[in-house]
Amino acid sequence: MNKVIVLGSTGSIGKNALAVLRKNKSRFKVIGLSAGGNVSLLNRQIAEFSPDYAALQDESKVKRIKGKVKVFSGSQGINALARMKSDVVILGISGIAALEPLLECIGNTRRVLLANKESIVSAWPLIKTKLKNSGTEIVPVDSEANAIFQLLLGIKKRFLNKIYITASGGPFLNWNRKDLAKVKISQALKHPRWKMGKRITIDSASLVNKGFEVMEAHFLFGIPLDKIEVVIHPQSVVHSLAEASDGCLLASFFSPDMRIPINYALYYPDISNTPLKRLDLYSLEKLEFLRPDFKKFPGLKLALEAAMQAGTAPAVFAAADEEAVRLFLEGKISFNQIPQVLRRVLLKHRPVKFSSYKEILFWIDWAKQKVAEACRMVS
Ligand SMILES: NC(=O)c1ccc[n+]([C@@H]2O[C@H](COP(=O)([O-])OP(=O)(O)OC[C@H]3O[C@@H](n4cnc5c(N)ncnc54)[C@H](OP(=O)(O)O)[C@@H]3O)[C@@H](O)[C@H]2O)c1
Repeated sequence: MNKVIVLGSTGSIGKNALAVLRKNKSRFKVIGLSAGGNVSLLNRQIAEFSPDYAALQDESKVKRIKGKVKVFSGSQGINALARMKSDVVILGISGIAALEPLLECIGNTRRVLLANKESIVSAWPLIKTKLKNSGTEIVPVDSEANAIFQLLLGIKKRFLNKIYITASGGPFLNWNRKDLAKVKISQALKHPRWKMGKRITIDSASLVNKGFEVMEAHFLFGIPLDKIEVVIHPQSVVHSLAEASDGCLLASFFSPDMRIPINYALYYPDISNTPLKRLDLYSLEKLEFLRPDFKKFPGLKLALEAAMQAGTAPAVFAAADEEAVRLFLEGKISFNQIPQVLRRVLLKHRPVKFSSYKEILFWIDWAKQKVAEACRMVS
């Protein structure tokens, strides 16, 4: 029996993870669940999965947790849960808030099923150092990173010519550039293919998310940035492609359903016998592959620039984006202003190398403060 902790169990990834675990109770036992503030859903999950531990970030609601569980509260409580001995930690907390729990669980679990990409983007050097000889491996469940993980089993890295990371193009793929000035929050939250949390949905609409995925692939798999290309694929059934040095191209196909990569990562290197959803090849009318429009989606270009700058630039970019998306969702800046703000913050930043959590936290806070300044300057 594998002991599983689900961090961020009340979110989109968390719910998909529990849907997979629900069907695999004979092999995986949920021992811990964590949420931000959704205590009513957390209580329903506790009632169903009977974990030993539950953690809630929002300390004011902790007394409302029901059931026979040891309760942890606040960010420190989530870290304490992450440190519990386990076989698998599924990390579905959104944003940079996932970084500390990720660092805490390394060395205390055998495998991290990592959905969160902001942590990798912000602090890969720290994560990489901690992973060394820790006995913990990361298997990504973000669909594109998971596809690359699978493709690299087929092509050794020394024979890899290029990785194509696919992007659906989001809700504004076919909009005119000038119309993006009029985007409503509800329109940006309407992703054509995936039902996800708000932050990643906005990042998908601006294509900033794809920039994060390029960085994720670069860091996690050690693929040089100039070998990673973003390609728009509106059908979202090919999740990434790998081109070998002899020109052979491998593609990873699966239905756009997060339970599939989660199921894969739980069982890897075995393969589960129960398919979640088979892809019906005959239902695919066409497969399109288009170049991204960097003028229409400047956030993608900025993300790639931050990746090239390296050092603290990816963390500053991720933190600035977290803040800018929050302001957009609160109606304080427009959709078009998100990349404008990101550009201003990046221009102000001189990237440096970092080697501690304290240092990177300093730059994350710095970036968030600069967003406030940048917002006053953008039109
Ligand atoms: N959703 C997808 O299909 C998908 C695909 C690929 C990658 N990802 C990545 O997976 C991560 C999660 O995405 P999501 O779509 O599942 O987000 P989500 O639906 O917004 O869920 C986020 C989860 O994190 C919890 N949380 C939020 N802030 C927290 C904090 N400060 N401390 C502790 N817990 C906190 C939330 O709790 P409450 O709801 O209880 O407040 C919720 O359980 C993101 O990094 C995203 O980029 C998601």
